[in-house]
Amino acid sequence: MSNDKIKIAVMVSGGGTNLQALIDKQKSGVIASGEISLVISSNPNAFALERAKKAGIKNAVVSRKECSSQQEFEKKISSLLAENKIELIVLAGFMCILSENFTVKFPKRIINIHPSLIPSFCGKGFYGLHVHEAALAYGVKVTGATVHFVNEIPDGGEIIMQKAVEVEDGDTPQTLQKRVMVNAEWIILPQAVEKVSRELLESK
Ligand code: GRF
Repeated sequence: MSNDKIKIAVMVSGGGTNLQALIDKQKSGVIASGEISLVISSNPNAFALERAKKAGIKNAVVSRKECSSQQEFEKKISSLLAENKIELIVLAGFMCILSENFTVKFPKRIINIHPSLIPSFCGKGFYGLHVHEAALAYGVKVTGATVHFVNEIPDGGEIIMQKAVEVEDGDTPQTLQKRVMVNAEWIILPQAVEKVSRELLESK
């Protein structure tokens, strides 16, 4: 049966709580049309790698620092994806840039989770805690998370799913980040992965 599922690679750089949400939702059946076949980390020390190992998922490290060029970095990633017959790529806290040379090869097959309601607080420089700092500095009362397809425009690809989260009095970037993760990211990323996998499966 598992041969019928869409083969998914999750690309990570850090803690991997979004990866964990995907693993858990695959176990509980929310993700049924795809299968996480590979985890690629840009960081050899990412805790996400421990999560992959614990779940018995094949994993690999491709460090940008150890590559002499962006081209070499992307070539290594592309080879791993091809070797493992990957059909869908999920960027879950992947902190490296992927160039247009890479993204054009996977139209509507790369998805990303961003911790704001795009088009607010997105694009160049808006990553990690900076996103939540900017939301608090602006004074928005509602923020959230967005899952979108990845193309050549940073955070500019077609939106797949969004979920709003309220900002509370006294929030710090850290408390807001946590609430956005728990109440939005960990919910919509698995749902969006299932939606896209199902559509890819149906179009096969
Ligand atoms: C998340 O906030 C995600 O939206 C952002 O990076 C963070 C990754 O966290 N792009 P984790 O590694 O999944 O815990």
